[in-house]
Order: sequence, then C-alpha cells, then structure tokens
Amino acid sequence: MCGVGAYGPPVCTCANCQTTWRRLQQLNPYTMWSPPAETRLPNIERNKMARRIKIYEGKAKILYEGPEPGTIVQYFKDDATAFNAEKMEVIDGKGVLNNRLSEFFMTGLNNIGVPTHFLKRLNMREQLVRACEIIPLEIIVRNYAAGTICTRLGLEEGAALPRPIVEYCYKDDALGDPLVSEEHIAAFGWASQQDMDDVLSLALRVNDFMSGVMMAVGIRLVDFKIEIGRVYDGDFQRLVVADEISPDSCRLWDIETGRKLDKDVFRRDLGNLTDAYTEVARRLGVMPKNAAPMGKPTLIN
Ligand code: C5P
Repeated sequence: MCGVGAYGPPVCTCANCQTTWRRLQQLNPYTMWSPPAETRLPNIERNKMARRIKIYEGKAKILYEGPEPGTIVQYFKDDATAFNAEKMEVIDGKGVLNNRLSEFFMTGLNNIGVPTHFLKRLNMREQLVRACEIIPLEIIVRNYAAGTICTRLGLEEGAALPRPIVEYCYKDDALGDPLVSEEHIAAFGWASQQDMDDVLSLALRVNDFMSGVMMAVGIRLVDFKIEIGRVYDGDFQRLVVADEISPDSCRLWDIETGRKLDKDVFRRDLGNLTDAYTEVARRLGVMPKNAAPMGKPTLIN
C-alpha cells in the first residue's frame, strides 16, 4: 500500500488507498472533501507543493512563505480581472510576462536608490521578495487623463495634466477601492504623516523613472498604480515599493500611434493582451527584438 490515502484527498487511485480514504472519511468528518478527479495532481507534484505554505491568493498573484524568514515567493498567475473582478479571463502567458516586466522595473528602481521589495527572480513565474506590511492604499500617479479621472472630472481622455497628480484609494475590494483623501488616511490611522511624505516622494520618483524608461522606447506612461509596504529592520521601519509594476497596473500608450499596450486592451476588448504586453517587453529588451507576437512568450534567460 502506498499510504497516500492516509494523508488527505485520495490522489492515489490504488484499491488500498481508496479503502483507507473511505474509512478515514467515516472516522473524521473534516476529511470529507475530495477534489474532482481531473484536478488531482500526480503524487510527485503534490509532494513538491506540500512544502509550500500559501499565505494569500489575490486576483493576479499568489504569495507563498519564502525560504528564509522575512521573504515571500510571489507567483504571477495568468488570470486577468477588471471592474472589481466582474470581468475575468485566463490569458495564456500573462503571468510570465508580468513576472519579467516587474523584475525589470523593480531592479531599475533598486539600482537608482528607490527601495523596493524585490530580491530576485526565481523562475518564469516566481520572484523572491521581502515580506512587508502593505499600507492599505493604492497609490495612483497620473500624467495624462484616462480612466476614472475622466469620468469623475469630465476630462477628455489623453489630455495632458498640468502636473503629475497623485491619488490614494483605500484597498478594499468589497467597497471597490474608493478614492480617499489624506484626511481619511490620517484620521483612520492607515499611515502616519511621515509615512505619507515618504509615500508621495516614492510615488513621484517611480513616476520620473518609469516615464523616462518608457519614453526611451516610444511609450507614454499615462498613469500607474503602486503599493507601498513597511519593512522592519530591528526597531526601524522603512518604506519600499511592493506588489508589482507591470502593464496590469500602468496605462502605456505608443507615442506615435496611441496604441494601448496595457490592461485596457482586456478591459475594453481592444485585441490580444499578450501581444500588447509582449510588445512592451520586446521594446524594453526583456524579449528578443525579432520575437513574433504569440500566445506563449519566449523570454531571454
Ligand atoms: O481606473 P483608474 O483610471 O483609476 O486607474 C488608474 C491606474 O491605476 C491605471 O493604470 C490602472 O491600471 C491602475 N489600477 C490598478 N489597480 C487598481 C486600480 C487602478 O492597477 N485596482
């Protein structure tokens, strides 16, 4: 008897394991759940995954406990969601592209002294990051009018803003991530005044860096969203750029043609999302220049 049946859902189909599993089900009502046959993994896969402890699963990423204390493995899924998850689709290769693009931007930021949570890429879909306490805000920086600011203020899409505008949204899916002011942030204690000074400075530095990098490859950085986390070093805390920076969280328009190269392609059904993200990756040198648009991306390294 292989014994697998004694540990959990009956991934092993041998008669002994199935019998053991049925007996366990009778003994313990908490083991009654069993995954559908088509989702059962081969034993070897299951053993590999059993060593991983999942901390959190979001719409586009899964976080696992990292190999060292204070580290986390961030896994990029292929799932695309929009309008607070009302629209959902699995887009082949999106996770791979975002893993590489986020690595590219975070490494660039680290190199110019803007601290991020990024430590290293582990493989096609995973990166090792520092564990941090996420400030419950989405920090949005806008250079041109697009998206919700147009609806809110009646601006024409594409209008240049007089200066970069920083907005804060409270991270709460159930409430639809509402726009909040610094008054709310201070009053509800989501971040201190010192934190907010640092958040603003980080957001503007990320904007300068990202605008320059994208401009160099003929892409306009219209707006983007970042998240910021607290990292503790002994008694001290410092803020770092966390989560991801990718075409999922930015608006990127080709400067010459205005073609959209970001998640609006999915939100507004404007074509193939992987082609758009592949184009961004190719221009930034993350992919070979002659790679053809495709469903499954070929990445350098
Ligand atoms: O939707 P809105 O116009 O407010 O989005 C501004 C920017 O923030 C866009 O680049 C969008 O992709 C990003 N964003 C995000 N995640 C959210 C909300 C907005 O990445 N939950």
